[in-house]
Amino acid sequence: MKIGIIGAGNIGSNAAKLFINAGHEIIISNSRGPETLDSLVDQLGDNASAGTVEQARDFGDIVFISIPLGRYTELPVEGWENKIVIDSNNYYPERDGQIAELDEGKTTSSELLEQHLPGARIVKGFNTIWFEHLKTQGDTKLPLEERRAIFIAGDDSGAKEIVAKLIEEVGFAAVDTGFLHDGGASQQPGTPIYNKALTAKEAAQTLSARA
Ligand SMILES: NC(=O)c1ccc[n+]([C@@H]2O[C@H](COP(=O)([O-])OP(=O)(O)OC[C@H]3O[C@@H](n4cnc5c(N)ncnc54)[C@H](OP(=O)(O)O)[C@@H]3O)[C@@H](O)[C@H]2O)c1
Repeated sequence: MKIGIIGAGNIGSNAAKLFINAGHEIIISNSRGPETLDSLVDQLGDNASAGTVEQARDFGDIVFISIPLGRYTELPVEGWENKIVIDSNNYYPERDGQIAELDEGKTTSSELLEQHLPGARIVKGFNTIWFEHLKTQGDTKLPLEERRAIFIAGDDSGAKEIVAKLIEEVGFAAVDTGFLHDGGASQQPGTPIYNKALTAKEAAQTLSARA
């Protein structure tokens, strides 16, 4: 598959590495421009190149967005029709500034992103796992229920299936928390599944205890 990556920091660069190791091709981007990503793409190898945000968006069958949430309005609003978008962003007011709709619990960060990217098929995912664990805890040799869980939420079941398969290819197990609003809320910082090293089996137990 072709995967566009927006955000080349802790999560974006490590996700890129995993996707390439699983046989995918990536274009990775940041806010400062492709010329600032030379050493990263050298490390990532032949199946990686650097591009602008728009090039990463246009290239990807899937577009993986991993930027500080407070900067999501900088993303272009056009060109997302039918794109599967993985949203790994989290809301940290001390980093992102206060966002009133989130503080008041009216919506979730993924729904704000969805409103900003019309037509995108948003799947929240990869947001509950610390980048050091993302780097090291995937293991394709384990049966699914013993693998570290990566949680997903979204309203588009076809998009979730494709993202779940990608998660399995990189050695984790996808655990579905539901629709974007409630599922997304259950994956936010401070929730019982956030930054917890749960296997898929433990994750299912944690979610059903909460239900
Ligand atoms: N760190 C973790 O373990 C972790 C785990 C799960 C989820 N998350 C979430 O994932 C997101 C990224 O976290 P991170 O730790 O990877 O951040 P990071 O290391 O600070 O990297 C952020 C990346 O986003 C890029 N960026 C910022 N604004 C952009 C824009 N408007 N367009 C394109 N690229 C832009 C930055 O590029 P420039 O440097 O060029 O500005 C940088 O490459 C955050 O929302 C975070 O809460 C983080």
